[in-house]
Formats: sequence, structure tokens, C-alpha cells
Amino acid sequence: TGHTSLDYGFVNTAATKSAITYIDGDQGILRYRGYPIEQLAKNSTYLETAWLLIYGELPSASELADFDTRIRRHTLLHEDLKRFFSALPHTAHPMSVLSAATAALSTYYESHSDPHNPEHVELNTIRMLAKLPVIAAYAHKKSVGQAFLYPDNSLSFVDNFLKLNFGVLSEEYEISPVMSRALERLLILHEDHEQNASTSTVRLVGSTGANLFSSISAGINALSGPLHGGANEAVLEMLGRMRDSGESVQRFVERVKNKEDGVKLMGFGHRVYKNYDPRAKLVKESADEVLAELGVSDPLLDLAKELEEIALNDDYFKERRLYPNVDFYTGVIYKAMGFPTRMFTVLFAIGRLPGWLAHWREMNTDPQTKIGRPQQLYTGAPERNYPGVG
Ligand code: CMC
Repeated sequence: TGHTSLDYGFVNTAATKSAITYIDGDQGILRYRGYPIEQLAKNSTYLETAWLLIYGELPSASELADFDTRIRRHTLLHEDLKRFFSALPHTAHPMSVLSAATAALSTYYESHSDPHNPEHVELNTIRMLAKLPVIAAYAHKKSVGQAFLYPDNSLSFVDNFLKLNFGVLSEEYEISPVMSRALERLLILHEDHEQNASTSTVRLVGSTGANLFSSISAGINALSGPLHGGANEAVLEMLGRMRDSGESVQRFVERVKNKEDGVKLMGFGHRVYKNYDPRAKLVKESADEVLAELGVSDPLLDLAKELEEIALNDDYFKERRLYPNVDFYTGVIYKAMGFPTRMFTVLFAIGRLPGWLAHWREMNTDPQTKIGRPQQLYTGAPERNYPGVG
């Protein structure tokens, strides 16, 4: 009201109240609806945590079973939408395919996409949870030139997803319980992170009254950037480049500190955490366990650990309070599971979906919500006349 304050990157400005996720960045604390992330990652499932985020409480056994059944019933994509994938080049980045196909979902459900109709919202929440993993797997299959599989609804959410990605037509696919549990855990860790860039995007787009599919598609696009979800892919590329070039870790860190060519230590630093990211701590533990259990040894994991060690003891990183974030170790695990590097951010998107849904719904039911419309401080030309006028 009369006073516009300038806040690049919303460093100090809250745009909403929210009851979903609590973060204490100085202490490295993350809680969903009050539950510590460590407890959820160890004991919960993707769908149970999704329910918690969306509805505010842990589900009863029958609520969870019903939720799971409803999701299994909605996994099929319209056959025409399957053909949508053929129009895109096989070289397409799976994140672009994911957002495009998610936007395309709204064309199938136009008549049932009123953001203020609770039945529509409920149904489309289920549709998104059921269909996003299938779209993601098709983006993967397309990129490797393999046939799409139909979802197997006898399987759990995560197992179905693994089979859609790694199963091959007419062959049995044996699900590895180690992989299944590890992926479930990683997805839980990604489920929400309060007002991060993609969630804020989902809220902003949603605040205009846009439908759920359009809002989520926008969130996927926001997530794709290397400063946000795209960092998990960028970390693996960085490690791969170091390995291939033979550049020493010490030398690379020097280049980062000197900001040579704007090079950053990807997977380090966070707007909110000025301490070890609690998710990164859990992912790091998992990386050792999962690689050992899958019988994979990857020199990139050793390289990552060496980088972390050097960075954590270096004044540049200490002064700026830069610690590993969630994206630092995830890629090594995804790689061990067999996912191509370009699928990593897609996995983040599936993880983050419940958070996006919870925030979109919270935003739409909050009586104080207004259209999101930031102010600016104008720095352009003063009034002047078009040539020949005045
Ligand atoms: N490597 C080297 N220097 C860094 C890094 C990094 N990864 N991150 C921050 N800095 C420096 C930055 O250059 C600045 O230095 P100076 O004061 O000399 O100008 C100082 O630390 C403060 O950083 P900032 O850019 O003002 O911090 P921000 O809050 O605007 O940015 C960030 C946060 C996550 C975008 C940033 O730390 C970054 O680019 N990290 C690398 C990308 C990354 O890993 N992103 C994933 C974030 S976690 C979850 C998710 O995926 O969203």
C-alpha cells in the first residue's frame, strides 16, 4: 500500500502463510506437517507421505488402501496421448517431454478441471499422482527407443514405476526390493520443500485460476533449471567431466572459488539451509548402502566424497555456509539403479508432485489468496513523444 520494497529473488518476502512444511535452515531441520523428515524417510511410503502432505494427517490403514486403489485405477494414459510422444524427437530432454505431456493432460479433462470444485480437485489429484510416473517412464522409454509398457496395477506405486522404466515387452521383470526401497526413500525426501521456486510457480500459476494440470506443468518447467531440480543432473555431469578430464579435485575447487567461467560446485549451497541439508545427510547414507547392496562400485561416488571433504574444510565454502544439498548424492544412486542422467530431474519431479498438489490445494482453499502479482521499481525512460507528435 504505497510502499514498494525491492527484494530480488524473494530473499526476505513471504508471499503466503502455509501449514504444510517447516524448515529451520540454520539448524538443518525439515518437517512435513510436524513429522521429522528422518522418521518419514525411514518408516513411511511415498503415498502415505503424499496423503500426509495433502490432507494434513497420516492416513488410517483403510484411507491409505483406498487412496492407493484409486491411484492404481487411474494409471492408464489415453491411447491418443500415448501417440503424443511420437511427435517429439527422441533426443528430447525427458523434462521437456514431462511438462509438455502434463500440459496436454488438461486437454483430456477440460470439463472436469474447475479449481473450485472439490470433486474435480480430488479426481485430478489422483489423476496426477497416477499418470505422472507413467508419463515419466514413457519419456524414458522414448529416449532409449524401447516400447512403452502398460502399467501393472497389481504392483505398488514404486514397483510399477520401476517396471515401466526397466521392464521390456514380453519379458519378465524382477523387481529388486533394494532398489524399490531406495527409490521410495528418495522420493519421500523430495516430496515437499515449502516455497521453493517450482512450488511458488505452481502457486502463482494456480492463483490466476488456471487448472491443476497447467499449474503442475509450469512447476515442472521451473524445476528443470540447473539452480533448482536440474542440479542433480548437473552434479553428475560435473563429476563425469572431472573424471574424464583428469582435473584434480583441488584444481576444480580453485576454479569454483575464483568464479572462473561462472563455474559453481553443483549440489552445494541453498537459499534456506545454512547448515548441512538434512536430506543430503540421508541421501549420503543411502548412497553407500544402496551401491553396496546393488553390488555397484562407482568412482564418481568417491570423487563426490572427496569434493565434499575439500569444500567443507575450505574458507570460501565455510564463510558462505555452503553445504551439500539434496542433489549432491542422489545422482550416484539413480545411476546405480540404471536411470540415464537426463532422467534424474524427472525423478525429482515425481518426488515433488505431492508437495505441488498440497500447496496448490492449500492456496485454492485459503480465503486470503489473491492473484500473485509482484510489484516492480520502474527504471525505464521518462515520458517522451512519438516522433512527429507534440
Ligand atoms: N558454488 C560456488 N559458490 C556458490 C555456490 C556454489 N554451489 N552457491 C552459492 N555460492 C556463492 C555465491 O557465488 C555467492 O558468493 P558471493 O557472496 O561471493 O557472491 C554466495 O555463495 C551466496 O550465494 P547466492 O547465489 O547469493 O545464494 P542463493 O541463495 O541466491 O542461491 C543456490 C542458492 C542453490 C541457487 C546456489 O547455492 C547455487 O547455485 N547452488 C548450485 C546449484 C544447486 O545445487 N542447486 C540445488 C539447490 S537444492 C534443491 C533444489 O534442487 O532445488
